[in-house]
Amino acid sequence: AKFMSCLATNRKTQDLDRFANQILSYGSELDADHPGFTDPVYRTRRKEFADIAYNYRHGQVIPYVEYTAEEKATWGTVFRELKTLYATHACHEHNRVFPLLEKYCGYREDNIPQLEDISRYLQCFRLRPVAGLLSSRDFLAGLAFRVFHSTQYIRHGSKPMYTPEPDICHELLGHVPLFADPGFAQFSQEIGLASLGAPDEFIEKLATVYWFTVEFGLCKEGDEVKAYGAGLLSSFGELQYCLTDKPKLLPFEPEKTCLQKYPITEFQPVYFVAESFEDAKEKVRKFASTIPRPFSVRYNAYTQRIEMLDN
Ligand code: TRP
Ligand code: FE
Repeated sequence: AKFMSCLATNRKTQDLDRFANQILSYGSELDADHPGFTDPVYRTRRKEFADIAYNYRHGQVIPYVEYTAEEKATWGTVFRELKTLYATHACHEHNRVFPLLEKYCGYREDNIPQLEDISRYLQCFRLRPVAGLLSSRDFLAGLAFRVFHSTQYIRHGSKPMYTPEPDICHELLGHVPLFADPGFAQFSQEIGLASLGAPDEFIEKLATVYWFTVEFGLCKEGDEVKAYGAGLLSSFGELQYCLTDKPKLLPFEPEKTCLQKYPITEFQPVYFVAESFEDAKEKVRKFASTIPRPFSVRYNAYTQRIEMLDN
């Protein structure tokens, strides 16, 4: 009955509107060690972004934002520096899509692309602005509906190379290139579907697997190791660091990886390396299918509804 009640309220894409009102902390509340904590201009700006997201409803155009000169400069630094690393540090799939985003989506040093434009460009996924931290359950549920919750604000200009929370650089440079890959989009949705109505213990494990793959995954390419995790592909500092001999690298095995603890506001001490990008997806799929649940679900793209099938 617990599963059923969860699914009863979470069946169609519009239901995601409820998540906007149940965020864990509002995006303008910064921790004392956040680089923007003592910057009143930055904090006011963050409140504006949080309000846009809070008031957003499914189906609306995501408001276009006029980024300030300072914000554009921060983006420019992040964009320019990361581009120097991608050829050697990013996985093949990321490097394949990136030039397309430059050609068709305004990815340039002097331009911060708009969420609405990117959302339209992505064939398989939509972006939705998010006002603050969502629970793992809500965030993963979004993926089931092919909705990716994205921040719209940018990191503080004093720390362009690593920021302690996701920002628009992370979404656009880290996540979007792989969401433009249909196989990866499909895979992301499967993680989301597996989460629907799952018990809390399983959600925590699934969120951990998500962390060590979609966010911080490494994979082999021939005899090299490359980054495919979005948290790496958006941080010049950590992207460099992850391929040095400083962090500990372990083989990616979901059953073990799902139990690994991790810090969220500093470089990761441990990464998991998949045999290949494909292998990472395949192993996560298998893991997701072990979910203890008395029914299966599928997504109907035409009605944008989740359908339940009794096992
Ligand atoms: N460190 C990332 C960057 O600089 C942003 C980030 C912070 C992040 N916390 C995260 C990304 C957690 C993924 C998950 O771009
Ligand atoms: Fe992310």
